Amino acid sequence: MSETFRQRLRALPDFPADLPTFDPGSAPADPAELFRSWLDEALAAGERQPHACSFATVGPDSQPSSRMLILKDIDESGWQVASARTSRKGRELSATPCGALNFYWPSQGRQVRVVGSVAELSAEASAEDWAQRPGADGKTNPQWQVYAVIPAEIEFWQASHDRHHIRHRYGAAT
Ligand SMILES: Cc1cc2nc3c(=O)[nH]c(=O)nc-3n(C[C@H](O)[C@H](O)[C@H](O)COP(=O)(O)O)c2cc1C
Repeated sequence: MSETFRQRLRALPDFPADLPTFDPGSAPADPAELFRSWLDEALAAGERQPHACSFATVGPDSQPSSRMLILKDIDESGWQVASARTSRKGRELSATPCGALNFYWPSQGRQVRVVGSVAELSAEASAEDWAQRPGADGKTNPQWQVYAVIPAEIEFWQASHDRHHIRHRYGAAT
């Protein structure tokens, strides 16, 4: 009997044998500091784009949508991503300024989730981000916008082979 798709999925690899340990008790008070160290460790483990994340927005009739984006920075304004204001996500953010980021680093068995309201950075900051993009050709793009997710909640998740996965939250619990 041929293998079903369901059976193929069931047989796919799980987390790698060597997973890092994570002790929430010794985690820094600043989630951005923990994120930067996890990003460094993901890079050291060979993750190619550890700054790529899914970004979910809310559309009309509460319909969610998500797509991958690149994290641009984390500072006092929030967790920054950038896109065209005219895109679906741009239109959805204009109407409903909130979003959710999700990073996943398979080699580490780690996930980081960030949820919050979304603010727009200035036209100057957005133009600077556009100009610094790889392959920038000197042309401007007035539709380009840097958005900052202002975290209401951040969750760091560490897989464990004993299935006692560790969740470490900053901000309100859900
Ligand atoms: C790894 C990866 C990184 C991406 N980074 C960005 C980004 O930083 N900004 C962006 O506008 N689109 C980026 N994209 C494309 C988006 O996923 C998406 O297709 C596009 O922004 C249109 O989304 P929307 O129609 O939902 O607004 C990226 C795609 C991938 C796979």
